[in-house]
Amino acid sequence: MTLPALSALHVDKAYGAVRALQDAHLEAHAGEVHGLLGPNGSGKSTLNKVLAGTVRADKATIHIEGQLVRIDSPTSAHRLGIDAVHQQPSVLTNLTVEQNLLLGSEFSRAGMVRDHQMRARAADMLERIRDAVGPEVEVDTPASNLGPGQLQLIEISKVLLRSPKILILDEATASLHRGQVEILFELVEEVRREGTCVVFVSHRLDEVMQLCDRVTVLRSGKTVATVEVAETTPEQLVTLMVGDKGAVARRPDRGADDRPDKLSVHDLTSEKLRRVSFSLGEGEVLGLGGLQGQGQSDLLMTLFGQERKAAGEIILDGATVHVRSPHAAARHGIALVPGDRTTQGLFSTRPVLQNLSIASLWRRLLARFFVSIRRERTAGETMIERLDIVLGSLDDSASGLSGGNAQKVVVARWLLNEPSVVLLDDPTKGVDVGAKGDFYEIIDDLARQGVGVVLNSSEDRELVRLCDRVLVMYEGHIRRELLGAEITEENLVSAALLVGESDQSEGRLP
Ligand SMILES: Nc1ncnc2c1ncn2[C@@H]1O[C@H](COP(=O)(O)OP(=O)(O)OP(=O)(O)O)[C@@H](O)[C@H]1O
Ligand SMILES: [Mg+2]
Repeated sequence: MTLPALSALHVDKAYGAVRALQDAHLEAHAGEVHGLLGPNGSGKSTLNKVLAGTVRADKATIHIEGQLVRIDSPTSAHRLGIDAVHQQPSVLTNLTVEQNLLLGSEFSRAGMVRDHQMRARAADMLERIRDAVGPEVEVDTPASNLGPGQLQLIEISKVLLRSPKILILDEATASLHRGQVEILFELVEEVRREGTCVVFVSHRLDEVMQLCDRVTVLRSGKTVATVEVAETTPEQLVTLMVGDKGAVARRPDRGADDRPDKLSVHDLTSEKLRRVSFSLGEGEVLGLGGLQGQGQSDLLMTLFGQERKAAGEIILDGATVHVRSPHAAARHGIALVPGDRTTQGLFSTRPVLQNLSIASLWRRLLARFFVSIRRERTAGETMIERLDIVLGSLDDSASGLSGGNAQKVVVARWLLNEPSVVLLDDPTKGVDVGAKGDFYEIIDDLARQGVGVVLNSSEDRELVRLCDRVLVMYEGHIRRELLGAEITEENLVSAALLVGESDQSEGRLP
């Protein structure tokens, strides 16, 4: 057996009292795609940051191709051929697509991109991902014009252009839809054939099963196991990650017809939406499915007053409402849990306690309630316990939370606000299977209390598990409605991709 391209042994890292890594191990070979799995907060990103030189380990023995090395800065990592796409993309929105693509490549060090060869490579790369980014993205397009999926693809391409020997992809697919993921996978396959060692972090087990040769599982900062993908199953991986907490069963049908309407929407039209009509019953969980980016988020944003509607009517508890801002939405008891936890959800420099309190504070002030700080704290602590949020203290800054734990804080905040309609915008994106189970229970609870829930999810399994009804969207309109037992993964996929299905709406076909 040849020496591993990458061997990281006995890796320790503590952030204050939090022991993010405790004797973690990771060994991967050239030409291998090595999955790194683990629940939220298990240390995956920390390990990746140690390897990429952005976080200094307290202790680590790292060998690259058999050579003992020290990684103490991103520069030293680059010099060793290690490059990473981190969970939070670092595309600079004041630069163009080309400038971003060439960032960190050897020829752009002077700050100006002169080298024609490099520019040609950037243009080539853009063509390679053309089908994924869409026809509108050109080399001189300002990055500020790009959506999250497009930004992520540019980020990945940028790193690929540096031809790393060890490529780390930390939840690089989280903001991509299926078609974009396929194109990314082709690129990964290509660099794997060229002998690159790829470390691949994803909460999407199907991706891991499809792409990886081996998987290392982390739990609480420790390496639990390294397994061959060919010799394992998704169920076994889940067990390794979280014990038996991950099983997902379909909720029982609850008879959809006799509920009074909580919310109804007629012919809602906007820049992104085309005549969307539906109603939401009391205690109903209504799913939004389809390929990502077909207007699902826009629908939620419009209901929440964050995006403008051009036409259409929103009726809440029998009365027409005009939701012109998120504040107005909050006043009407409409809550939104955004999917992009870092840019929309959290005030990351503020303490966790404040993040929890902001929404509920608002409502209570409006209701002219006296807000007792102590009560806030108690409610906050109860919620932290209920959602199993891993953190040092409520007074820690929210920026130190792991991705999934940060998302739980956003959810907790809205639950403290006692909403009457909850809009969930892909709330468990990047959340581990165990934590997902917690969320599912909360969503079930909300429905049981009569709250109307609209759930946009990029995971079909989640829609199957949770929803009474699912609206499948395509290009801003509702293409199909699936009810009760019709909600299966197969039906969701075929409705989204229109395989052997006819379009139920009057919208145009792809
Ligand atoms: N800058 C930081 N300051 C304090 N604590 C941190 C910091 N970064 C991470 N942590 C903590 O270290 C632990 C590991 O976090 P890490 O981000 O590595 O987890 P992860 O496995 O990537 O999780 P996720 O799946 O949610 O992305 C968590 O408990 C997290 O709260
Ligand atoms: Mg992470």
